[in-house]
Amino acid sequence: MPAVPPIESPATDARAAALAFLLHRHSTGPKYLREPGPSDAEILRLAQASLRAPDHEKKIPFRFAVIRGGAKERLADLFEAYGRRCGKPPEEVAAERERATRPPVVIAVIARIVADPEVPAHEQWMAVGGAVANAMNALQLMGYAGKVLSGARASDPEVAAAFCSPGETLVGWIAAGTPTSPPKPREQDSPASIVRRWPDTGGP
Ligand SMILES: Cc1cc2nc3c(=O)[nH]c(=O)nc-3n(C[C@H](O)[C@H](O)[C@H](O)COP(=O)(O)O)c2cc1C
Repeated sequence: MPAVPPIESPATDARAAALAFLLHRHSTGPKYLREPGPSDAEILRLAQASLRAPDHEKKIPFRFAVIRGGAKERLADLFEAYGRRCGKPPEEVAAERERATRPPVVIAVIARIVADPEVPAHEQWMAVGGAVANAMNALQLMGYAGKVLSGARASDPEVAAAFCSPGETLVGWIAAGTPTSPPKPREQDSPASIVRRWPDTGGP
């Protein structure tokens, strides 16, 4: 496939600017987030964006739980208990607490994948992934930054039970806030490495 010309900076045209934004989106870890986080109204906007992701039969196999203010201490207690159950040393247990308290806002992502002959599980998971991607883009278009985080704690039964009803899966959390600095440049993506003609004739 031919090389895709790089877009270096947002153009004046709104669509080109949106595309440039997508091509420059990067995650920002909790260490580089400060107050303020997104407001409740802005989180509703983020949810609205998540609902614009492709979703076969519009099953909406996901929901969000917003953790802010004092509720972050409850999440910290949960993570701390998880760390202790795992036998982590004190400094790692303290890091578990910080995972919950450091981001201005934490948004749990919860999936519900159901048996459906028309929409197999992998398609429902794709809708969850698309929803999260749209949410991350909306978050950053609103001037915030964040990162999707999970780790083994997301599949810990006690942590998951604090968020999920039976049949639901805790995917992870979006740590959200205002970036303390612009995202660091990462390695260049290589779109040509993932695109081939079909049938494969060896050329672009
Ligand atoms: C469901 C999900 C869970 C993730 N969990 C973690 C995690 O626990 N720790 C981590 O460092 N990155 C995790 N990531 C990856 C980051 O969110 C991020 O995508 C990655 O660091 C690449 O950065 P970029 O988004 O700027 O390309 C997760 C991503 C997804 C979609």
